[in-house]
Amino acid sequence: MPLLPCAELHLHIEGTLEPDLVFALAARNGITLPYADTTDLAARYAFTDLQSFLDLYYATMDVLRTEADFADMTRAYLRRAAAAGVRHAEIMMDPQAHLARGISLETCVNGVASVLATSEADLGISSSLIAAFLRDRPAEDALGVLRDLLAMDAPIVGIGLDSAEVGFPPSLFSEVYDVARAAGLKCVAHAGEEGPPAYVWEALDVLRADRIDHGIRSLEDGTLVARLLAERVPLTVCPLSNVRLRAVGTIGDHPLPRMLALGLNVSINSNDPAYFGGYVEDNFAAVTKAFGLSPDELATLAANSFRSAFLDDERRAVLL
Ligand code: HPA
Repeated sequence: MPLLPCAELHLHIEGTLEPDLVFALAARNGITLPYADTTDLAARYAFTDLQSFLDLYYATMDVLRTEADFADMTRAYLRRAAAAGVRHAEIMMDPQAHLARGISLETCVNGVASVLATSEADLGISSSLIAAFLRDRPAEDALGVLRDLLAMDAPIVGIGLDSAEVGFPPSLFSEVYDVARAAGLKCVAHAGEEGPPAYVWEALDVLRADRIDHGIRSLEDGTLVARLLAERVPLTVCPLSNVRLRAVGTIGDHPLPRMLALGLNVSINSNDPAYFGGYVEDNFAAVTKAFGLSPDELATLAANSFRSAFLDDERRAVLL
C-alpha cells in the first residue's frame, strides 16, 4: 500500500519503546530486566484488556533514566514515523509515570522536547508535545504537575488524560482542565475506549476537550453521535490497539467503517505502536484490507488528521 501522508495525533511516546531499545537502554543504565531477551519480552504482548497492557507499559518504561534515553526513544519514533508517511506528530507523554520513578520533570520533558524542536528540519515532521495525566491517580497530583510544567515554561501544546479509564470519569479532572485552558493550552482526553459514552459526554461538557482520544464507544449513544457530528469533534481512533486490547473482537469488527459512513471526524493513529503490532501505516493497511476502504475514504482520514491537528494555518495549508 502506498504511503499516505498524514498527521499522527494519538501517540504515547513511551509506547514506542521497541524491545531492542528496551534492552539497549537497560544495558546502558546497568538495569537487569526480568525478561530473557527481546523475544521473551515481545512474547508478553498478549494483552487481555487495557490494564494488562498498562502493567507492562509502566514496567518497561523504567529503562528511561536520562535525558538521552528520552531523546533516543523520541528520535527512533520520529524516524519510523517519517518512513510511515507521518508529516506532523502530536506526541503524548506521561510525566507522572516518570516522576513516580524518581525521574525529574526536566529530564523527561527536555529529553523528548529537545528532539521535537528539530524534527521538522531533520525529518520533515512538524511536532508538538502533550502532557498526559494519569486518571487513576488523584486529580491533585495532576494539578501539581501541571503547575510545575507551567512554572518551568515546558514546551507543551496541550494536556491529555490517559491510563485506566473505567471508574475514573473525566469530571474528576475539571479543575486541571480549567487551569490548562486558562494557560492557553489545548485539551484532549481519552474517553470511550473501554469507558462508556457518558465519559465522552463529560470530556466534552466538563473538560471541554478539543479532541477525544479513541471515542469508539460513542456509537452506542445516538444523541452523542449527533453532538459529535454537529461540532465536528475529532476522534483519534487506533484500530490495531483496539483489537490488541480487546475493545473489539477482530479488525473486521472495528466500528471505523460505521464512523466514516456517519461522517464522524475520525483519524487513524497508532497509540502504542511498539506494543500493538504496528505503526500508523500498518493501521491504515489493516483497515484498508479489512474494509476495502476507497481512495476517497483514505483521503478523508488523512485530511481529518491534518484538520484536527493543533497547527498554525501556514503549516496546515502546506500539509493539506
Ligand atoms: N489508553 C489509556 N492509556 C494509555 C493508553 C491507552 O490506549 N496507551 C498508553 N496509555
